[in-house]
Amino acid sequence: MAVNLANKTFVVTGANAGLGLATSRALARAGATVVMGCRDPGRAAKAADVIRASVPEAKLDLQRLDLASLASVAAFAQEVTKRHTVVHGLVNNAGLMATGFGKTTDGFEIQLGVNHLGHFALTLQLRAALDAAPRARVVNVASSAHHGISAMRWDDLMWDRHTWWAVDKWRAYSQSKLANLLFTAGLHRRASNWTVCAAHPGYAATELQTTGVRDGGAWMEEKVMALLNRVVAQSGEDGAAPQIHAATADDVEGNAYFGPRNGMTGGGAVPHSRSAAARDDAAAERLWAVSEELTGQRW
Ligand SMILES: NC(=O)c1ccc[n+]([C@@H]2O[C@H](COP(=O)([O-])OP(=O)(O)OC[C@H]3O[C@@H](n4cnc5c(N)ncnc54)[C@H](OP(=O)(O)O)[C@@H]3O)[C@@H](O)[C@H]2O)c1
Repeated sequence: MAVNLANKTFVVTGANAGLGLATSRALARAGATVVMGCRDPGRAAKAADVIRASVPEAKLDLQRLDLASLASVAAFAQEVTKRHTVVHGLVNNAGLMATGFGKTTDGFEIQLGVNHLGHFALTLQLRAALDAAPRARVVNVASSAHHGISAMRWDDLMWDRHTWWAVDKWRAYSQSKLANLLFTAGLHRRASNWTVCAAHPGYAATELQTTGVRDGGAWMEEKVMALLNRVVAQSGEDGAAPQIHAATADDVEGNAYFGPRNGMTGGGAVPHSRSAAARDDAAAERLWAVSEELTGQRW
């Protein structure tokens, strides 16, 4: 990455592992101050050591963030705003996949709660700091898994009526990633002084594939996913290329969506197409209204 990000501050969620760690390292290497939003301080500290091993001059600010708690999101946003009056970039990267049907502290279905609603609340609460930048960049990390559902499940967003968890937990992930793209469109429409875009890595071997299914007790799926990670996936480093491009390239257009050049693995970042459901403006507006209602945050 040849860009110079000296004197710029970026916030990365889920910065201690996988794509978030690779993104934080790339931003730090380019000179940015990186606020690493992580839910586990011990894992955050280890990740910072990993970054400093290759970027000794890295400017890192480790802050606790649990996206499964609106109180934690608010405390994080407050602390970030206190410490950094200007935030030039926000990478809404943290996520979990296909875990069992848990709830966040605030009673949201866990995947929608962490992957979308937590990031929605965070972004709105960082608005002043993002507005203070000449043209802030916001990147939502989505997934090609958003193609796995034809629309938001409006009559049961929290999956209270899920029937067969082995299928529905994957559909719940798809819904949360569709929400990432609808949020991107809604935010792009409102934040005319920011560049708001989205990216997905294709398929990268990170902890994503095993953590969720393991936490949900699906040991067979965990073994299958671990095998696929070894034989099919690209590295987390390569997988992070589209979101790093989205966060740092000069010529990024609002509401752009980047993925790997070679389809699902590698080759850098190119624009990718999104599903019809993700291009549905009415759905984006409906999700915006529901998200404001659920999180208590208003634009
Ligand atoms: N890897 C892929 O092939 C792939 C494909 C498509 C999309 N994505 C997307 O890429 C993003 C990054 O995933 P990854 O592959 O890098 O997975 P990962 O290695 O599992 O990293 C996920 C990160 O999110 C954090 N996180 C999970 N729950 C959180 C919470 N409640 N509050 C705060 N942070 C939380 C994790 O923290 P802990 O370490 O504490 O668990 C970790 O730092 C996700 O949005 C995912 O949907 C990945």
